[in-house]
Amino acid sequence: MEIIIRDTPESASVVAARIIAKQLRDKPDSILGLATGSTPLPLYRALIAMDLDWGKVTTFNLDEYIGLPREHPQTYHSFMWENLFRHTNVRPESVHIPDGNAADIPRHCSEYEEQIRAAGGIDIQVLGIGTDGHIGFNEPTSSLASRTRIKTLTRQTRADNARFFGSEDEVPKHVITMGIGTIMEARMNLLLAFGENKARAIAEAVEGPVTSFNPASALQMHPVVKVCLDEPAATGLKRADYYRWVDANKPAWQVF
Ligand code: PGA
Repeated sequence: MEIIIRDTPESASVVAARIIAKQLRDKPDSILGLATGSTPLPLYRALIAMDLDWGKVTTFNLDEYIGLPREHPQTYHSFMWENLFRHTNVRPESVHIPDGNAADIPRHCSEYEEQIRAAGGIDIQVLGIGTDGHIGFNEPTSSLASRTRIKTLTRQTRADNARFFGSEDEVPKHVITMGIGTIMEARMNLLLAFGENKARAIAEAVEGPVTSFNPASALQMHPVVKVCLDEPAATGLKRADYYRWVDANKPAWQVF
């Protein structure tokens, strides 16, 4: 894992945006895996400001709530169009977000996996992390080999996400999420985390044992992971000084 620590969410997100911009310049028909929540918002703002060409890009989102009408403001469908897609020239037919109203959910999930495979696999997967270490909506004890499927949210995640809804009761209990196995097949994973409330989950994911108890820790087994943090999210890291030193001493060709 490569740990990149910056003062603010905005400056850490600019690093992530440069990584994605380089990918789109090198391969205009890239396959991007995208995330929702408050974490990727500064990344999406930075990407919009870069005015990149999304005309040949294909996207796959990590997850979606089950049972909300598609146009509900809190669906991840609404989130993505509002906060990213409508500001780009992405083609609507190239956008893939799990359908939380699919009649046959297991079948929809295996078709989603097939669509990712048919597209050629994900080049860069953007990830946030839950306070419990979830990536996508793979809650603790999710199989590290899991594929896209239905999950039941933990009470912690529903409490964390209540801020987007009127109350915790209004947060759906079930979601569709790419599995950890799906995420591990992306050619690069780009994990972002901001704020002190993510410090423990990040410390466990980066420096703890690989365990389904912190699903993000599975990324230790992935060959290309960049972790973009603000200072508060890095406060639990024992080796933060080393990560900063590595970052400050990169060969010129490696600088983002
Ligand atoms: P957040 O959620 O970005 O809203 O903090 C992250 C997550 O649950 O993965």
